[in-house]
Order: sequence, then C-alpha cells, then structure tokens
Amino acid sequence: MSIFRADALQGLVALVTGGGSGIGASIAVTLAEHGARVAVCGRTQAKLEATVEAIAAAGGEALAVATDVRKPEQVEALMQAIDARWGRLDVLVNSAAGNFLCPAASLSPNGFGTVVDIDLKGTFNACKAALPLLSRAGGSILNISATLHYGGTPLQVHAASAKAGIDALTRTLAVEWGPAGIRVNVIAPGPIDGTEGMTRLLPPDLRTKAERAIPLRRFGQPREIADAAVFLASPASAYTTGATLVIDGGSWLTGMGL
Ligand code: HXC
Repeated sequence: MSIFRADALQGLVALVTGGGSGIGASIAVTLAEHGARVAVCGRTQAKLEATVEAIAAAGGEALAVATDVRKPEQVEALMQAIDARWGRLDVLVNSAAGNFLCPAASLSPNGFGTVVDIDLKGTFNACKAALPLLSRAGGSILNISATLHYGGTPLQVHAASAKAGIDALTRTLAVEWGPAGIRVNVIAPGPIDGTEGMTRLLPPDLRTKAERAIPLRRFGQPREIADAAVFLASPASAYTTGATLVIDGGSWLTGMGL
C-alpha cells in the first residue's frame, strides 16, 4: 500500500535507465503503480523484461528497450521508440550506473573511463536526447547520484568522480532548462538493500559494523528511494529544481559514504 494517491502520476510517461534491477527497477515499478506508463532501458533485455512483467502483472503498461547509455545513437533510438509508442515523455530517471572497488593506483584509464562513461556521460546522453520530448511535456529529470563524493571514499575514485559530475550536471541543467519548464533533481541514496551496488561494494562480514554506523541503524529499501522518486516526478514538487535529496539514514554524516 502506498502513501500516495494511486493516480498521482496518471497520464505521465516515464523512462528509467538502468530499470532492469535494483533501485532503477524499484523506481520503474513504483512509478507505474502510481499511474505512469514506463519505459525501461539497460544492457540486458532479460532483466528489463522482468521489470516489464512486474509492471504488467500489477495492471500497468511498460516498454523495454535494450540500450547502452554510453551509445548516443542507441539512446536516440530509445527516445524515438518512446515517442512512437506513447507520443510523449514526462519523466526521465537516470539510474544506469557501473561500479567496482579498485585502488586509484591500480585503476586503468579505461576502468576509470568506463564508469565515467556509464554514469556521467550516460546521464548526459539521456538528458540531451530526451530534451525535445521533455520540452514538449514540461517534464522533469531525476538523476540518481550517491554520497561517496561528499568526503573521500577509498577505492571509489572513478565512481566518486562520476557522481560528483552528475551533481554538477544536475545543477547546470536545472538553470539552463528551467525556463523551458524542465525540473532537474538528484536523489543521493545511501546503502540500499538488494542492489548490485551493495553486493559489489560491501563485503558481507562488514554489514553489521556498517549498520551500527548508520544513525537510523539499518540499510534502506529500494522502495524508500522509489517513494521519493514519485514525489520528485509529481506536481507535488513543482517548485523543486536543482535539489539533492539525500536518502541514506544519515550515513554520510557519520563519514560512511556508502
Ligand atoms: C579494476 C576493473 C574492474 C575491477 C572492470 N575493470 N572491473 N578494473 N577492478 N573490478 C576495468 C576493466 O579491466 C577494463 O579496463 C574496464 O574496467 C572496462 O571493463 P569491462 O568489463 O570491459 O567493461 P563493461 O563490460 O562495459 O562493464 C562495465 C563495468 C561492469 C562497470 C566494469 O562492472 C558492469 O557492467 N557492472 C554492472 C553494473 C554495476 O556495476 N552496477 C552497480 C552500480 S553501483 P582495461 O584497462 O582492462 O581495458 C553504484 C553505486 C554507487 O553505482 C554508489 C555506491 C555507494
């Protein structure tokens, strides 16, 4: 049961990059539960189909388009597919990301570049390609960032740099595209259960220690990010742009930038 009205996003069309798993999948399903028609993209068609099935099973309408956000021509084709299917795009959620742990001293230029390409350049590619559709709808963009760059997070020079760039991109686009009626915001999730990020970045034996360091004493749930996405996609946030909503149980305040 949702705290929001079931028709909070009725009539809107959303695109969630990285919508095949983790936070992206949860956002896609939750936006659909509130009336949005939702396109999901990612590199793996099978993962996307799982999200589409979950949305369809709940009576929603969804579209899966295998897309690598690093490839501008694929992102363009994705926008054309959405336009052909629904004729509009109101909400773009940039959730596609890549990450791994690696000390800066042994990270190759291509390793650094790959994460920047997926996270930062992928976000730019999707924003740019979506602009004509978003302008038509007076839509909004929601970028999924992180908190690891608020301090210094070892083994994360690539992701921290990319996420810092996403925050800067968000504020710049909020200023440039605000006059066109397009809002651009960031959610910065902390440690969220059931995500590839947590599986990749947190050794299981450190979990209890990590939980003890979080002011709210637990990891977050994907749905707790998705509920915030409903707010930022809806008219309830009509005067909110260039904002960062940190959803991390207070983690980063303690120096745990997960
Ligand atoms: C060092 C690594 C590495 C590792 C890859 N590379 N994994 N270097 N340690 N563990 C290097 C490779 O050697 C290569 O450089 C370059 O990165 C590209 O690797 P590929 O495997 O060719 O890239 P690709 O197949 O495109 O895969 C992208 C990927 C991969 C990011 C590297 O891990 C991936 O697809 N991940 C899935 C998505 C994901 O990670 N989701 C979690 C996001 S978590 P060389 O020099 O050898 O060519 C997240 C949370 C952020 O975003 C905030 C958390 C707190």
